[in-house]
Amino acid sequence: MMTTTERRFYIRGGVPLEGDVQVRGGKNTSVAILAAALLCDDPVRVENLPDISDTRLMLAMMEGIGARITRESPSSVVIDPRFLTGVHPDDGMSRSMRASYYLLGALLGKTGEGAIAHPGGCDIGSRPIDQHVKGFRALGAEVDDASPLITARGSLTGAEIFMDCVTVGGTINVMLAACRAQGNTMIYNAAKEPHIVDTANFLNAMGAHIRGAGTDVIRIRGVSRMHGCSYAVIPDQIETGTLMIAAAATHGCVTIHGCIPTHMESLTAKLLEMGARVEDYDDMIRVYSHGAHRAVSFKTQAYPGFPTDLQQPMSALLTTARGTSTVTETIFDSRFHHLDEMRRMGARAHIVGRTAAIDGVIRLHGASVAASDLRAGAALIIAGLMADGETEISNIHYIERGYENIDERLRELGAQIVKR
Ligand code: EPU
Repeated sequence: MMTTTERRFYIRGGVPLEGDVQVRGGKNTSVAILAAALLCDDPVRVENLPDISDTRLMLAMMEGIGARITRESPSSVVIDPRFLTGVHPDDGMSRSMRASYYLLGALLGKTGEGAIAHPGGCDIGSRPIDQHVKGFRALGAEVDDASPLITARGSLTGAEIFMDCVTVGGTINVMLAACRAQGNTMIYNAAKEPHIVDTANFLNAMGAHIRGAGTDVIRIRGVSRMHGCSYAVIPDQIETGTLMIAAAATHGCVTIHGCIPTHMESLTAKLLEMGARVEDYDDMIRVYSHGAHRAVSFKTQAYPGFPTDLQQPMSALLTTARGTSTVTETIFDSRFHHLDEMRRMGARAHIVGRTAAIDGVIRLHGASVAASDLRAGAALIIAGLMADGETEISNIHYIERGYENIDERLRELGAQIVKR
């Protein structure tokens, strides 16, 4: 939560990033997997968790309803969900993050009931959860979502569910609710993001029977018991992409270790098109760049298209590409606040509806800017790393929701960034 004494990032730009960096576990996977652990009948170990405010908040909400949490290290926890004392996680905490909605799916699946305040999260446009509710209802739950509290109750039976739009959160939430339902569930028009596959793999490691995750039809055979396991979260696709873009933006050379290059194909293709160099290895990507970048155009899409979560960092890079780039945001209706801030740094961008035309300038200059959401904050860091002079970024609590020790890790790559 923001405080008046919140520290800020101060960046002196113009230094090429050089060296090696290890990517952390996926934020959006971790929050789903932590909630999914509630479904288990035994203690379960989750490893490779990023130590960020969103995972800490999720664990605190789970602890608040009786899950016993043992931190083995900053990146590993054991969750014992056998003695839950409630099905209504704290309203204040639920409202401050989006992924709190996964607790409803998991509690409904485990205990047949749950209640959660309408979830909060980054302000990037309207974020309905009608598809989650539709899925729970199809499984037989009675859901009341008309008040500030969403309640769901019922003994669940497998069903055929056609998602009206491709939704990451909706697909995962219905999967959570369905994996202990009686009988078979089919989810059509499912999202295919790496987080969906990772969450399904985790559920299967606990004894669930889920097939087809990563395609647009997911089949779930309900099971009556789920057992303990140890599971390591996959690397963060968006952190990997943010670091790739930062390497290109500073005309540096960065090797990102522990990532999954196949998750990065849409970004890699755009970076190559701009004139940056990208080398893929088994679990490593090297990005380097010399000389000016060419303008490119892209639309955000569901996986395997260009991820909306990288649209903002990528548009920072485009502010100095030669020519005019066109960026169309098709997933969220208000995800261009970062461009308003970057205009203070000399960026030229013209927004009409969901499309931004970015005219490349020679250099950005440092300015005092504010993060409006997590990925806007990441974009401002990249802009600051590119700019002449000093950039001051406020509202960094948004950035700390999703990037672990980002200042320290960028400093190890040579960036002049401090938090004070
Ligand atoms: N949508 C509906 N109804 C629903 C659910 C979604 O109309 O019931 C619409 C949304 O309004 C949006 C689109 O479907 O236009 C996609 O939304 P989705 O449900 O996929 O997004 P989400 O689950 O709210 C997750 C990530 C976001 C990421 C999106 C898209 C988490 C906690 N959040 O959000 O991550 O942008 O998927 O990939 O997993 C971030 O990390 O910065 C972030 C915002």
